Amino acid sequence: MKSLQIRLTAIALGLFLVFSFAHNTQAQVAGWTIPAKFKTTKNPVASNKESVADGKELFAKHCKSCHGSAGLGDGPKAATLDVSCGDFSSKKFQATADGEMFFQMTEGKGKMPSFKKLIPEDNSRWAIVNYLRTLAAK
Ligand code: HEC
Repeated sequence: MKSLQIRLTAIALGLFLVFSFAHNTQAQVAGWTIPAKFKTTKNPVASNKESVADGKELFAKHCKSCHGSAGLGDGPKAATLDVSCGDFSSKKFQATADGEMFFQMTEGKGKMPSFKKLIPEDNSRWAIVNYLRTLAAK
């Protein structure tokens, strides 16, 4: 009886491993699980003066309180959180694909809110991505 249980557990574990490898379509970005397709999703909003200005306005309204005016993660609300908000000026963050940033602000994670409903227009969130690019350290 016991050995049957062990064998069934082993089979279940084996199936689980095969399944996890076969379905490896998720990427880990700084602790986020992001569906792989977002790595190559093209930003439909061209980065120009207008979209960057739109993104900047939305950032000031919805993001600055935590992420800080320069995106360094030092907004007034950040001090009340037990997790880091990240540093948008960093090379590491700027290596994140546009689609991955779009996913992050759309879905949120833990203390980071989801903006799917707060900023319902997809193109507005893409405009914020364009603004986040301007925060890269010079
Ligand atoms: C209430 C505070 C708060 C607000 C408001 C907020 N964020 Fe965040 N954000 C966080 C926190 C905390 C994290 C880190 C989450 C984690 O790793 O668990 C984060 C992470 C992120 C990341 C990933 C950073 C990285 O290093 O990979 C992006 C992108 C982001 N936020 C964009 C935005 C945008 C854009 C807005 C506004 C539309 C916004 N956030 C508003 C708290 C906030």
